[in-house]
This record gives sequence, structure tokens and C-alpha cells, in this order.
Amino acid sequence: MIAGDLISKRGRWLFAAAALALSLGAVSRRTGTATPVSSSKPEFVETGLPRFGSDVLARRPGVASPPVHDGPPEDPALIALGRAIFADPRFSDPPGTSCASCHDPRRAFSGTNGAAIGVPVGSRPGHFARRATPSVLYLKYVPRFHFHEDDEVAAPTALGGYFWDGRVDTIAELVKQPLFNPEEMNAGSDGRVATKLRDAPYAAELRAKFGSDTKAVVQGLGVALEAYLTSDEMAPATSKYDQYIRGQATLTPLEKRGLEAFKDPARGACSGCHRMNESSPNPKWSLFTDYGFDAVGAPRNRELPGNRNPNYFDLGLCERKDQKTPSSDDMWCGSFRTPSLRNVAVRQSFMHNGVFRRLRDVVVFYATRAATPGRFYPGGTKFDDLPEKHRGNVNVSSLPYNRREGGPPAFGDEDVDAIVSFLDTLTDAAYLGNE
Ligand code: HEC
Ligand code: HEC
Repeated sequence: MIAGDLISKRGRWLFAAAALALSLGAVSRRTGTATPVSSSKPEFVETGLPRFGSDVLARRPGVASPPVHDGPPEDPALIALGRAIFADPRFSDPPGTSCASCHDPRRAFSGTNGAAIGVPVGSRPGHFARRATPSVLYLKYVPRFHFHEDDEVAAPTALGGYFWDGRVDTIAELVKQPLFNPEEMNAGSDGRVATKLRDAPYAAELRAKFGSDTKAVVQGLGVALEAYLTSDEMAPATSKYDQYIRGQATLTPLEKRGLEAFKDPARGACSGCHRMNESSPNPKWSLFTDYGFDAVGAPRNRELPGNRNPNYFDLGLCERKDQKTPSSDDMWCGSFRTPSLRNVAVRQSFMHNGVFRRLRDVVVFYATRAATPGRFYPGGTKFDDLPEKHRGNVNVSSLPYNRREGGPPAFGDEDVDAIVSFLDTLTDAAYLGNE
């Protein structure tokens, strides 16, 4: 879809320009001076698009205000019920796989369930989920899927929704997917779940709340899990970074350098999408995502069984099926929801396809994808995890992806180490030592 491509590129560029203006404003407000963002001028690919100055930052002005929670107060009994269900291995077939098997509480509720290929194994050996397991912390901040329209920009911005492709809006609905997916818990049917539930220590409580009708009981499981996963206990904000924004900790020189590189448009420019605001002590302004979608061009994970078929591709957002807010336009193929980087250091694999196993490798990818693509795309095919017709969707125009091929990286090894060290400060207290 050529017209769509043009719109999306142009839209992206306009977001970029506006975001740069915003970010420069923020810098000068914070420091009170008008110092330039960078003294060294990076090299850029000629895109043929008009530009403001030389920097093109990632996108999306005026978005990313986290939803305000004005729902009913938390119900401790329902949360406790959800916590028990989350850890209960009785529903899977064969039994033994609970939500917590993949969303491992020791790893900030992410993990591979012992698999070595980047995506988790399900209840049956050799059966793997399609994507990497996201952490289920901080989910209360995820907005419903929507498009953000802005008069200033030519294309709407997609935001929110659960899963890597934003395809579900409530956790109560979502839980049926892992529960009944044959590659994950393989629980069979509502009837089988209801039967197994009869012996659970919390069965009477669940029935008292939701009735004993099979459908109502399974729905009740979802409601309890939602209460648990969106509770305050699942958004702990106990990391060193949180102490730092509350004025209770100081960053080491390396962490501080990492923070600067993370924000600096001339180096990482990470905070354009992984949003943060260190001048607010409220963690909701530092979720390290704006819940927007982007096509980052993660390399193909050749270990995934599905990828043995060279014509199989995970297209992300454009595969999402929803009539009310359709995102099926080809311009969304290859886009995935920007993950929060909170607790990223305790993850066992990275990106929607789990292709990276070490955090440092992800940061190196950002530094060098544009300058030396050969190290990520063996065989010389750039953006090899997308079919040829969608490769044009990959973001090559905004920072840090817009460096010239063959030129210097967006940032050097010392900044890579510094950014990794800064990302380590995002680990909540309970998971320290599990990196
Ligand atoms: C076999 C491993 C596995 C099991 C078991 C599992 N999940 Fe997941 N979970 C995943 C994967 C993989 C994804 C990402 C799927 C996608 O994006 O398409 C995910 C995504 C999620 C998300 C969305 C998070 C976000 O950031 O959007 C929630 C919520 C979730 N799971 C809850 C649960 C609950 C509740 C259970 C138990 C009923 C469960 N999961 C069981 C692997 C698992
Ligand atoms: C234009 C938006 C954008 C910018 C800029 C950006 N990211 Fe990302 N980031 C994403 C998206 C989208 C993903 C998920 C991509 C995928 O899975 O295909 C991601 C994934 C990641 C992950 C993997 C997290 C996980 O849970 O698997 C890490 C780590 C990360 N980014 C760090 C960074 C760093 C460090 C920078 C700056 C050098 C940066 N990002 C800049 C959008 C962005």
C-alpha cells in the first residue's frame, strides 16, 4: 500500500519534529539554559523529507498521559483470590503449568518457563508460545487500544491494548487466551476448568462471589485475575530509579551517564518512546513506555519452530482483529507495542520474538542497526523478520535509527555500558540479584 506508506512515513516525520520541539522545551525548562542538545553533529540518512534542523526524534506529541484510576477501591479478598489462581497449576493439561510458570514472580513476572529459544514452553514439551512473555507488572497503567488523532499529524498514532499487538482490552477477557491456547496451558474447555476448580481451596469463595454456573465461574476467574494484576502490589515502584526520583538515592556516575544517553537525541533518544520524567516523583510518569507501537525491525529468531517455514511471519499490530478500531492497514504490519523497561534487566529474552538473550545485545542493536546492519541480519537481508512487502514499514527515519549505513554508530560502547547500567536501576527491590 504505497499511499499508506507515504502517509505513515510523513506522519512519523511530523511526530518526530513536534516531539523534538517538545523535548528541547523540556530540556531548557529543566536546566534553565539554552544549551544545545549535543555538540557533536550526528550523520543522517537522506530521506528526501523536509526537516527541522538536523534531528528527527521519535514521534507522538501530546500522548502518553497514563489513565487515571477512578474505579472502585481495591478489594483485598478478590485480589487474594486472583493471586491464588495465578499460582495454581491445576488448570493446565497436563497439570503443572500455572500463569506463574511463564510469568515467573522471581523474574518480575516474565520468563521462558525453562525454554532456551526466547519464547516460553507451554504445558506440553515441545509446544511453545508464539511470542516472548511480557512482565505482568504495572498493567494497571495500560490504556485501552485507541488511535490518537492530532490535527498536526497526517496519520493517527496507535496506542495501548494488552499483548504485544494490543489485541485485547481487559485482562478478564484476556486470560482465556493463555488458559485455552493449546501451546500454553491447554486447559480444554470451560467445563473442564470448572470441574478442576471444584477441588481448589478457594472454590467455595469463587462460587459465593460469581455463582456456580460454568461460564460464570470461568468469567469469575478472569475478574479475580484482573483485580490481582491491576492492584497496587503489582506496580511496586521500589527500584533505585524510583528512590532517585523521590530524592532518596543518587545515581552512580555510570548510571547518570546512562540516563543522559537514554534521553539525549544525539545518542540513545530512547525516552522518545520509552517515556520517563525524572522531575516527577510519581512513577506513573516514568513507565518507560508511551504504549505506542513501532516497527523496530527486530531480527528473525531462527530458533522458533514456526520460523522453519520461511513464509511464516509475525506481523504484529496489523494482525489484530477488531472491527470497531481496525488496525488491519498494511502500514501497521511489523509494529509491536513498546514494552515498559521497568525490570527489563531480569528478563530472560527480549523483543516480541525473544531474539535477544542479553540486555546489552539489545542496546548494541539500537546503537548499530542502521550503521552496521550486517551484524544483525545474516545473509544481508535487512529487516528479515518481515516479508519483503512490509520491510518499508520499519522505522528508519527517527532517532536512533536514522544513521548512515557504513557510518559511526548512534552511540559508542561506553554509552552502551552506561545505558545498560542505567536500565539496571529500573529493577524493583524484590528482584535485585536475579539479573
Ligand atoms: C506458556 C507461557 C504462558 C502462560 C502459562 C501464561 N502466559 Fe501470559 N503471556 C505469555 C506470552 C507469550 C504473552 C504475550 C502474548 C502476545 O503478546 O501475543 C503473555 C501475555 C500476557 C498478558 C499481557 C501483558 C501485556 O503487557 O500486555 C497478560 C495480562 C497475561 N499474559 C496474563 C496471564 C495469565 C493471567 C495467565 C494464567 C491464566 C497467563 N498469562 C499464562 C505467556 C504465558
Ligand atoms: C521509536 C520508538 C523506540 C525508541 C526510540 C526506542 N525503543 Fe526500545 N522498543 C520499542 C519497541 C516498539 C520495542 C518492541 C519491539 C519488538 O518487540 O519488535 C522496543 C523494545 C525494547 C527493548 C526490549 C524490551 C523487552 O521487554 O523485550 C529494550 C531493552 C529497549 N527497547 C531499549 C531501548 C533503548 C535502550 C533505546 C534507546 C537506545 C530504545 N529502546 C529506543 C520502541 C522504541
